[in-house]
Amino acid sequence: MSCPVLPDGFDPTDPELNAHGVPLPEFAVLRRTAPVCWIPQADGTSGFDDGGYWAVTRHADVREVSTHPETFSSQAKTAIIRFHPSIEPSAIDGQKLIMLNMDPPEHTRLRSIVQRGFTPRAINALQDALRDRAERIVHAAVKEGTGDFVTDVACELPLQAIAELIGIPQSDRSKIFHWTNTMVGYDDPELALTQQMGMQSAVELMSYAMGMAEERKACPAEDIVTKLVNASGQGNLSSDEFGFFVLVLAVAGNETTRNATSHGMHAMLTHPEQWELYKERRPQTAADEIVRWATPVISFQRTATQDVELGGAEIKAGQRVGIFYASANNDEDVFDRPDRFDILRDPNPHLGFGGGGPHFCLGANLARLEIDLIFNAIADAMPNIRLNGEPNRLRSPWLNGIKRMDVQYQ
Ligand code: HEM
Repeated sequence: MSCPVLPDGFDPTDPELNAHGVPLPEFAVLRRTAPVCWIPQADGTSGFDDGGYWAVTRHADVREVSTHPETFSSQAKTAIIRFHPSIEPSAIDGQKLIMLNMDPPEHTRLRSIVQRGFTPRAINALQDALRDRAERIVHAAVKEGTGDFVTDVACELPLQAIAELIGIPQSDRSKIFHWTNTMVGYDDPELALTQQMGMQSAVELMSYAMGMAEERKACPAEDIVTKLVNASGQGNLSSDEFGFFVLVLAVAGNETTRNATSHGMHAMLTHPEQWELYKERRPQTAADEIVRWATPVISFQRTATQDVELGGAEIKAGQRVGIFYASANNDEDVFDRPDRFDILRDPNPHLGFGGGGPHFCLGANLARLEIDLIFNAIADAMPNIRLNGEPNRLRSPWLNGIKRMDVQYQ
C-alpha cells in the first residue's frame, strides 16, 4: 500500500525534507486528492515497525482526530516526546507520566490540576516581569549591531517565562536553561554528540523539579508549585508527576515559542508591508497569524483504538495516524488565501496550538503573550532590523525550526 498521488518515498516527517521548508505544495495535493493517505516507512526508520502511518492533512479531519481521544489514542506509540533516542521508557519509566501521552480519564485528572497554573490571572500576573525581560533582551541585541536573531533574541524569553511561571530562583536559571537547551538539541543530527548529555540533562531537570515539589510539600508557600503539589482539599500532583510536568513544559513551551518568534520575524522581514503595518498598529491578531504561518509543531501522532473510516480511508485498529497541523493551517477550505501572511487575519481558526481536543496547548495564552511582548519590544527598539542572508533551518521530523538567522539589528 502506498500513497498514489505522491512521489515514491515521500514522507512529510523526513527531517531532510523539512530542512528545506515544510512541504506545503505536497500537502496541498494530499488535501485535494488523498486527504487521509498511507505513508509507508521502512521498518525501523521511525522507531516503529508497523510499516507506515496515515497522514491526515485536512483541517476538518485534524480536528476530528484531535477531539476523539477514545478512537485516536495519545497513549500507545506516541513517539512525539521521545526527547532523545537514548531515553528509553524503561530508563525512567516516564512515558505514562507525560501528559501528552495520556488519554482520559488519567489525562483529565492531571490536566485539571496543572490548569491551576495557567489561568488567565496567573498568565496576566507575569506580564510586567516578561515585558521587562523582553525589553532587556532586545536592548542587549541592539548594542551588538549584528548577530544571530535566534540566540540573541528568540531563545531567552520562552525559558524566562517558564522559570517565572513556576518560580525558579534567578540563581538556578542558568543551569535550568543549560539542561533544557541540551535536551531539545537532539533532533538535529549535527548535534549528535550531545545525545548522552541530553539524556543526562532530562534526568537532572526532573530531579531538580522533584526536589522543588518535595520542598513545597514539606513547607507550603504562596506559589504555583504549592498550588500543584500541596493544595488542601483538592487533587495534587505527586513529586514524580511534577517532575515530568516540568520536563514537558521545558520541551513544549520552549522551542515552540522560540521558533514562532524566529519564523515570525522572518515572515515580517520578507513581507515588509506587514512589518510596517505591525510597527504602526501593533495588532493583537499578529501573534495568531505568526503561529499559523510558522506552525512550529508540524505534526503529532495518535494511534487508532478501533477500525474507523476517515476522509475515505479505512484505518485499522493499532495503526498510527499523523495529524499535520502545518497542512491544516493552509487549508483553502478554511483560510482565505492561506499563502498570504496577513497579521490582521481575523477570524484565524488555525490549529498551531492543536486541534481543539483535550490536549489543546496548555500554554497557548502564555505563548501569545510572549510573542506579543517580544515583537512590541523589537518594533520599539529595532524598527530597521534586516535579514543578513537565509536562515539555517532545523532538521527535524516534527518541529519547524530555525537554528540560526543572521540579522542586522539597526
Ligand atoms: C500541547 C503547540 C507553547 C505547554 C501542545 C500541542 C501543540 C502545541 C500542537 C498539542 C496539542 C494536541 O495534541 O492537541 C505549541 C506552540 C507553542 C506552544 C505552537 C508556541 C508558539 C507552549 C507554552 C507552554 C506549552 C509556552 C507552556 C509553558 C504545552 C503543554 C501541552 C502542550 C503542557 C500538553 C497539553 C496536554 O497534553 O494536555 N502545544 N505550544 N506550550 N503545550 Fe504547547
